[in-house]
Amino acid sequence: MDYNIKKTWPDFWDYAEQIIDIENNSFPTPWSTEAFEAETEKHISNFWALVEEDNIIGYICFWMLEPEIHIINFAVKIEKRNKGLGKLLLKHVIETGINKKIEKVWLEVRPSNLPAISIYKKFGFYEVGRRIGYYRGTGEDAIIMKLNINQEIPDLKVSNC
Ligand SMILES: CC(C)(COP(=O)(O)OP(=O)(O)OC[C@H]1O[C@@H](n2cnc3c(N)ncnc32)[C@H](O)[C@@H]1OP(=O)(O)O)[C@@H](O)C(=O)NCCC(=O)NCCS
Repeated sequence: MDYNIKKTWPDFWDYAEQIIDIENNSFPTPWSTEAFEAETEKHISNFWALVEEDNIIGYICFWMLEPEIHIINFAVKIEKRNKGLGKLLLKHVIETGINKKIEKVWLEVRPSNLPAISIYKKFGFYEVGRRIGYYRGTGEDAIIMKLNINQEIPDLKVSNC
């Protein structure tokens, strides 16, 4: 199956319902439509969606704060997980960072989120600290992870690349 990656925010409004559905099925405290709407208005905010036959199957939202990137949302539709699509999205963001001479990529992740932590480590992210009680709702801590772009990025095999 072929996937397109849409790299512009305005498409969010064409797909908002699908995105909110993925979001609600992915997080204990999902973003609301208003939270996505607020992101569309920030010039630093980027939203890239993986699209299969006009269906959104995953997305990654990040802030481009040159010389840094901060990943703030990242999800793949449940039925489409474990097929390499999350790594595909992340790889595109990191490659864009390399092209733009980005030096660091940051993100926060729940300690209980083993699949996400596993992916991040495969790309070379490492833990640099914790934010205590960071996640509203559950009060779970956040692990802060960082990737130094000038380090060698593993050539991960991802589907449909
Ligand atoms: C995190 C997420 C985006 C990954 O998407 P995905 O398309 O399933 O990711 P991929 O298929 O590219 O990679 C999955 C990897 O997770 C690993 N994994 C899956 N389940 C795992 C588990 N229970 N424990 C540890 N690792 C696990 C797999 O080993 C796999 O790596 P591999 O293919 O190299 O073996 C997806 O799981 C998701 O949407 N989760 C809910 C939202 C979320 O947690 N987002 C991240 C917020 S920080």
